Amino acid sequence: MKTLRFETLQEAHIPSILNIENRTNSAPWSERSFRNELDHQHGIFVAAIEDGEVIGYGGVWLVIDEAHITTISIDESHRRQGVGERLMKELLLRAKEKGMVCSTLEVRASNDPAVRLYEKLGYKTTARRKGYYPDNREDALVMWMHNLSEWEPRKG
Ligand SMILES: CC(C)(COP(=O)(O)OP(=O)(O)OC[C@H]1O[C@@H](n2cnc3c(N)ncnc32)[C@H](O)[C@@H]1OP(=O)(O)O)[C@@H](O)C(=O)NCCC(=O)NCCS
Repeated sequence: MKTLRFETLQEAHIPSILNIENRTNSAPWSERSFRNELDHQHGIFVAAIEDGEVIGYGGVWLVIDEAHITTISIDESHRRQGVGERLMKELLLRAKEKGMVCSTLEVRASNDPAVRLYEKLGYKTTARRKGYYPDNREDALVMWMHNLSEWEPRKG
């Protein structure tokens, strides 16, 4: 049976993360951006490890009392197996433990899988930012979860 665990970002995870990022994201984060997350004073960054292999990652910035999701990606060959949902729950739980009371994120308007994932967890779309993404001028949806302080991962 495969085992999935979550580890706080370490330097050794970064090469695998960059591989996934460059395959996944049309405007990929640089190596430096990931390195900045290693000792981010107000951030949480987690790698999803299955049988010793990095198969996904995600991060959140802690802005006063808001957990701002900055990125999440699951390697394409491991999608639709519940990993993204478990990773989001891990991030939200860690953010809640650090006293965050709500959570927000931006997502490309066309990114149906991600929008559905966030809706499943309880986020609601509250605004649309026209032409937000510089690479293709796509709109962003702004989504919020206002009740992180009462949120329980099993209910998500
Ligand atoms: C979005 C992403 C993280 C989802 O990860 P995943 O591991 O495949 O998602 P899960 O298997 O945990 O799915 C959880 C829920 O998300 C939704 N979902 C995920 N993929 C979906 C798809 N292709 N179509 C529709 N809904 C989808 C569903 O609600 C699903 O719940 P269900 O299985 O009960 O239907 C993944 O598709 C990904 O890495 N995409 C590329 C990077 C990206 O777009 N990140 C988001 C940036 S804002």
